[in-house]
Amino acid sequence: MRGLILSGGKGTRLRPLTYTGAKQLVPVANKPILWYGIEAMVASGIREIGIVISPETGEQVRALTGDGSRFAAQIAYILQSEPGGLAHAVRTARPFLGESSFAMYLGDNLIQAGLAAPIERFEANQPEALILLKRVANPTAFGVAELDGQGRVMRLIEKPKVPPSDLALVGVYLFSPQIHAAIDAIRPSARGELEITDAIQQLIEVGKRVESVELTGWWLDTGKKDDLLEANRVILDEQVHCPMEGSLDEATKVSGRVCIAKGARLVRSMVRGPVTIGPECLIEDSYIGPYTSIAGGVQLKNVDIEHSVVMEKTRISGAGRIVDSLIGQRTVISRHNGKPEAHRFLLGDDSLIEL
Ligand code: DAU
Repeated sequence: MRGLILSGGKGTRLRPLTYTGAKQLVPVANKPILWYGIEAMVASGIREIGIVISPETGEQVRALTGDGSRFAAQIAYILQSEPGGLAHAVRTARPFLGESSFAMYLGDNLIQAGLAAPIERFEANQPEALILLKRVANPTAFGVAELDGQGRVMRLIEKPKVPPSDLALVGVYLFSPQIHAAIDAIRPSARGELEITDAIQQLIEVGKRVESVELTGWWLDTGKKDDLLEANRVILDEQVHCPMEGSLDEATKVSGRVCIAKGARLVRSMVRGPVTIGPECLIEDSYIGPYTSIAGGVQLKNVDIEHSVVMEKTRISGAGRIVDSLIGQRTVISRHNGKPEAHRFLLGDDSLIEL
């Protein structure tokens, strides 16, 4: 079985961050979202992985992720010339996929459970497609499945106005090569995309077997700021490997699970985990509260921050209290005077904020 990870698309919902970078590279617990999908595939025994990239952000994805050797996998990059939809991405990847069955993972999705159990079922029952479903409160934002009394998939609809159930399609799918003929038979949707949901519906219509598994663990679609902060919270909570390699002066206090990477320096600061701090950071006279990820090379001075993600090489000084924020790379926030208040930011790369 091969793996296909979709890392193209426009990323409109995470603007302004996605003006300069791929949304799949935004870090969750200091690791690009995309890498969680790669690791899940490798853990389930998939070693040949294709990553669909866009002309705008593809080179960044390739430069950071590499040829797969860091994951003990082989990664091929597949350029999708335009964001024509998930089924269009599969069609573009067809030369890579050949006649193999494949697992497809949307590069902005994270699931708690691995792929081993769904793959085992797919291989045992040999349906043409196996989809993962999860009950959600807002099904209109997703593809939605309608099942019969025996749990068989009857119908799938992409982002329905009136959802027939609360079972959303999770962005992880298993396909036999029959999906290619189904893709060839569908037309673009109202949003102008070739939808994978419609291709799976097409399989059902021509009498092919489509099975579903309801996910019990968490599933996060990191498309928006709050979803991304939630993913960061959940991963920090469950993270097991936690190095403590940086240096702390005597006035610094650390409690709870806190990862501090090599070369990071903490001075007169307090950190309450779960928190992760990347390499070569300088944290002075600051408080870092639970569910915060600080990427490499960040400098904080006189900052009180929690439940936030700060990306690489950003510098913040005297900003007062920062909560629920997602701050891009190389951003500079500084306060010159006035009383500190609480701030909530969604800042793209290279922003400059003077308070
Ligand atoms: O997250 C689950 C949902 O993902 C499913 O419930 C929906 O049925 C499915 O259509 C999809 O919906 P979204 O509208 O959220 O998909 P989005 O456009 O965000 O794209 C998902 C990933 O695929 C993202 O990492 C970008 C990538 N992509 C997207 C398009 C449209 C591509 O690589 N190429 C594309 O052409």
